[in-house]
Amino acid sequence: MRVVTLTSEDDYEGWRDAARALAQGRVPPSEILWQVGDAPTDLFGDEAVLEPAAPAAFRVPRAFLDLAQSVILHSDPQRFALLYTLLVGLIEQPRRIDDRADPLVRRLEEMAKHVRRDIHKMRAFLRFREVEDAGTVRFVAWFEPEHHIVRANARFFVDRFAAMHWSILTPELSLHWDGETLAEGPPATRADAPEGDPIEEMWKTYYASIFNPARLKTGAMLKEMPKKYWKNMPETALVKELVAGARARETAMVQTARDSVGGNIAGAWEALRDEAKGCTRCHLHKPATQTVFGEGPVDARMLFMGEQPGDQEDLAARPFVGPAGQMFDRAMAEAGIDRSGVYVTNAVKHFKFEPRGKRRIHAKPDGGEISACRWWYEQERLLIKPEMTVALGATAARQMLGKVVTISGARGRAIELAEGGMGWVTVHPSFLLRLPDKTRVEEEYAAFVEDLKGAAKALC
Ligand code: URA
Repeated sequence: MRVVTLTSEDDYEGWRDAARALAQGRVPPSEILWQVGDAPTDLFGDEAVLEPAAPAAFRVPRAFLDLAQSVILHSDPQRFALLYTLLVGLIEQPRRIDDRADPLVRRLEEMAKHVRRDIHKMRAFLRFREVEDAGTVRFVAWFEPEHHIVRANARFFVDRFAAMHWSILTPELSLHWDGETLAEGPPATRADAPEGDPIEEMWKTYYASIFNPARLKTGAMLKEMPKKYWKNMPETALVKELVAGARARETAMVQTARDSVGGNIAGAWEALRDEAKGCTRCHLHKPATQTVFGEGPVDARMLFMGEQPGDQEDLAARPFVGPAGQMFDRAMAEAGIDRSGVYVTNAVKHFKFEPRGKRRIHAKPDGGEISACRWWYEQERLLIKPEMTVALGATAARQMLGKVVTISGARGRAIELAEGGMGWVTVHPSFLLRLPDKTRVEEEYAAFVEDLKGAAKALC
């Protein structure tokens, strides 16, 4: 048995270096014991593995390294061995990493997803409290992650709160930022963190102003916010109050929410996108790889909405990058619309599919899934305030208009939207990809381009 001792729970480099050498020596997974400790003295129980007699070096797919970087942060003690097992498998079968039906690949992908979600939760739910510290102001937060994500998240907080002096206390370690240097400290307990203070009022005001009653339909605000974080969040004290007067304030709030971000629309959009990464508003998040949020300038005048991400979008986390996206890009260029100047999103932000062998076949989102995702579309609209929203296909039209319409009945004309701006309905680009008859494709493509031109023209 060879024992590999890693320096910390999130010691990716230690794992990578050891795993590379062991795999090069073709050491079977069953002969390795992975452990975490303070003293990496017994990096290999048997140093022979590093001898030059080892077979030739091998190349590791980039996707595996990306996966490993996330999985290492998972709290499952098996993670080092599982990753090593896949690494050894990749020597013979480098394409195995792309095989989404492979149980080990799936298990590791799932672990990576949980880690990403935990990273997101820390960003979204951590709350600082203001304390006086030797005459200076310091912000202190308590957070209990599920996985070993604190170090991996440090950069985010340094960038986001660069001008503040802050400490983040967790049961695993603490982080301290003094405006210039990030220092690590020992584990903390909840008792080390301060309780409520004036900054809570600020959070409460903020949350009251961005609170959207649409969330109440399914009690989603409470469902979405994991219970274990409630106690850290001053705004939860407001929920009852907000529920009581919700409907009446709906319209006014839309404007207030936009104003409340103080002109920092890009920052608010980023926060929204980050929040969406952990979305569990419907079951579609479970099989999907990740949330595919909208993209484009936040001051775009036009918003284009598709149905839902496809297989390639699900992997790339970007809308319209697969075959339908290429068709969309071509038609946009022909219509004289610069894609980089518009905002592109989807009615549903997770890929819905049915597994068929190794393939994932697109499945149409149903009414419940479309409604569950409406929250994100509303928030995107709220920030971007598009003058023209173009719905690509029936699902997008349903999301935009809040009711089922036929494409033939609604297409090709400006429709006044209740929440402001104009709407425009046209076909989905994948409709063109599915047409069997070549002449029909040409006709429908030309009509699609005309629709896009019409929408752009209606803006002038
Ligand atoms: N189809 C869509 O509706 N959206 C995408 O992002 C890709 C394909």
